[in-house]
Amino acid sequence: MERSAIIKHLIRMYGFESYLEIGVRGRETLGQIELPVVDGVDPNGQGNFTMTSDEFFESHCSRSYDVIFIDGLHLHEQVLKDIENSLTHLNDGGIIVMHDCLPEEEWHQLREGVSGKPWNGDVWKAYADLRATRADLTMYVIDTDWGCGVIKRGSQTTYQRPEEWTWDHFQQHRDELMNVVTVEEFLGYSQP
Ligand SMILES: C[S@@+](CC[C@H](N)C(=O)[O-])C[C@H]1O[C@@H](n2cnc3c(N)ncnc32)[C@H](O)[C@@H]1O
Repeated sequence: MERSAIIKHLIRMYGFESYLEIGVRGRETLGQIELPVVDGVDPNGQGNFTMTSDEFFESHCSRSYDVIFIDGLHLHEQVLKDIENSLTHLNDGGIIVMHDCLPEEEWHQLREGVSGKPWNGDVWKAYADLRATRADLTMYVIDTDWGCGVIKRGSQTTYQRPEEWTWDHFQQHRDELMNVVTVEEFLGYSQP
């Protein structure tokens, strides 16, 4: 199941009407979303806001959204800011989806990508930060398409944070740390 199918499933299930995508390249996902409000932010164009997500949230975002898809700059600190800003601009009952939460190999999650190869960056560490600190959120990652994280307001038992987020820790504790669910589980419990 691809990220776009997950987002479209959530839109159908919850009757969402507004969508924001951070990082739009190619419009592969954004181009499939048909809603009254579809906004895209990308400094390299292809969205209707040609700027970084920081600039967008700081001075151009004048509304909140039902679904926000985070797929911009794949670096820990930037993704953390994108999640925090998205939470501020999320409607009640809204959902954040974030791509690239489950790197398969260590090199996929390095802070610099290998040209022409899949790059997840250290997105997982931003997600993990919130798993360890935010008891007021419900979070899980669907094990498909490089790991699609889902975040909404709710509750969770926070994860015991280690001294440092390391690749070894991720590998050994991936399922619990990231709260990984299968596509079937996701389809089963994302009923309204
Ligand atoms: C992996 S691509 C997005 C792919 C697209 N979301 C999809 O589903 O196919 C990442 C995009 O993030 C954009 N980007 C990089 N830095 C950004 C930033 N600070 N804010 C927003 N977008 C950024 C890049 O220009 C690139 O187009």
